[in-house]
Amino acid sequence: MKLTVVGGGSTYTPELVDGFARLRDTLPVEELVLVDPATDRVELVGGLARRIFARQGHPGRVVTTDDLDGAVEGADAVLLQLRVGGQAAREQDETWPLECGCVGQETTGAGGLAKALRTVPVVLDIADRVRRANPGAWIIDFTNPVGIVTRALLQEGHRAVGLCNVAIGFQRRFAALLGVTPADVHLDHVGLNHLTWETGVRLGGPEGDNVLPKLLAEHGDSVADDLRLPRSLVDRLGVVPSYYLRYYYAHDEVVQELRGKPSRAAEVAAMERELLGMYADPALDEKPALLAKRGGAYYSEAAVDLAASLLAGGGSPYQVVNTYNNGTLPFLPDDAVIEVQAAVGAHGPAPLPVPEVDPLYAGLMANVTAYEELALEAALRGGRDRVFRALLAHPLIGQYTYADALTDQLIAHNREHLAWA
Ligand code: G6P
Ligand code: MN
Repeated sequence: MKLTVVGGGSTYTPELVDGFARLRDTLPVEELVLVDPATDRVELVGGLARRIFARQGHPGRVVTTDDLDGAVEGADAVLLQLRVGGQAAREQDETWPLECGCVGQETTGAGGLAKALRTVPVVLDIADRVRRANPGAWIIDFTNPVGIVTRALLQEGHRAVGLCNVAIGFQRRFAALLGVTPADVHLDHVGLNHLTWETGVRLGGPEGDNVLPKLLAEHGDSVADDLRLPRSLVDRLGVVPSYYLRYYYAHDEVVQELRGKPSRAAEVAAMERELLGMYADPALDEKPALLAKRGGAYYSEAAVDLAASLLAGGGSPYQVVNTYNNGTLPFLPDDAVIEVQAAVGAHGPAPLPVPEVDPLYAGLMANVTAYEELALEAALRGGRDRVFRALLAHPLIGQYTYADALTDQLIAHNREHLAWA
C-alpha cells in the first residue's frame, strides 16, 4: 500500500508516522511519500520519519519529494494536511478580525473564511492531479476549514472524506474518565466540522446505554474545565459542545482574551522552530513530547482507522467523518457537509441515522451551513461581493458594517493568495 501525505513537511507529520508505525497491523503501509514544496523541511521531517519506522521495526519505505505528480502516482490514498501561507497567514487570520471586535481564529469566523479562500483552489488543483494520476485513490482531508474544503472536493466529484480529531479526542477523554477502553466508547456526535455536540456517550456501540448523564454528574467539572465553559452552562445544555463552540457561547469573552495575548500562530511558530531543531538531531527516533502541545492529538489514530476502513477492510466499525448530509439531518440541504458517525467501508462513509436534533443546535448548524455554502461560492468564484455575503451570513458577524470592514481587511491581507483580488 502506498500513502502520500501532501504537506508532509509539517512538523505534525511525526505524529502521523508514529501512528503508522504503531498500528501497522491495521494499516500495512509499504511506501509513505511525504511531499512538500519546502524541501529543507520535508528532508528533516522525512529523516525523523525513517528513524521512527526503523526504531519500531516498520518495514515501510519513506520517500521525500517536492514533485506532487510523482508523489501521487499509484497512491492508494492521499492525505491532505497543507497550510497555504503557513503560520504567517494564520497569524493574520487570528489578528485583523479582533480589530472589529470579532473572534480571530483559524477556522471560525472571518479568519476561517480567509483560510477557505486561500485553500480551496489549491486543494482542488491537487485533487485534480490525484485523479489524473490515479482515479481510484481516496483523498483524506485534514486541511482546514475541513467542512468547506470537503464540500469543495465532493462537489467536484472527488473520492474524498474529511477528518478532524475533535471526536476522537472526546472519545479518549471520556474513556479515561469512565475507566473503559476508547473502543468501548461510542459518541453520538452531531454537527458540522468545528461546530459539534456530543449528545450521547454510549458503551459498546450505537445501541449501548447512554452514560452521558452519569458522566456529567460525576465529572462535569473537569469536562467543563477542558472546554473553558462554566459547569452550569454544560449542565443546562445536557450535552457536551466541542471547544470550538466557546467562540459562539462566549464570543465577547474570547475576543477580550485574544486581544491580550500573542496569537496561537505565534506560539505554534515558536514551537515549530524548536521541533525542527529537534528533528535535525540524528539521535532522535521517536516523536518528541513537545508535539503534544499542538492541537492535533490522536489525529494519526483517526487517520489510520479511516484509511484502514477505506483500503484494507479493517478499522473501527463506526467513525466520525465529514461527508455529504444526504438527508441525515433533514433540516440541512443534501449537499451540506456534516460531521457525524458513519459506517465506513471500501465505498466510503455511510452516516448512521441521527435522532431529532434540538433546535438549540439545529438553528446554529443551519446558519453555519448557509455561511459555508456562501464561503465556498466566494472561494470558487471570488469577488468582493461574494466575500461580503459570506461574512454577512456568518452568525458571529451579521451586521453590514462589520461585514464590510472585515471584507476589506480580508482582501487586503490575502491579496497575494487570491487570484481575483
Ligand atoms: C485541532 C483541530 C485542528 C486544528 C488544530 C490546531 O486539532 O481539530 O483542525 O488544526 O487543533 O492545533 P494547533 O496546535 O495548530 O493550534
Ligand atoms: Mn479539526
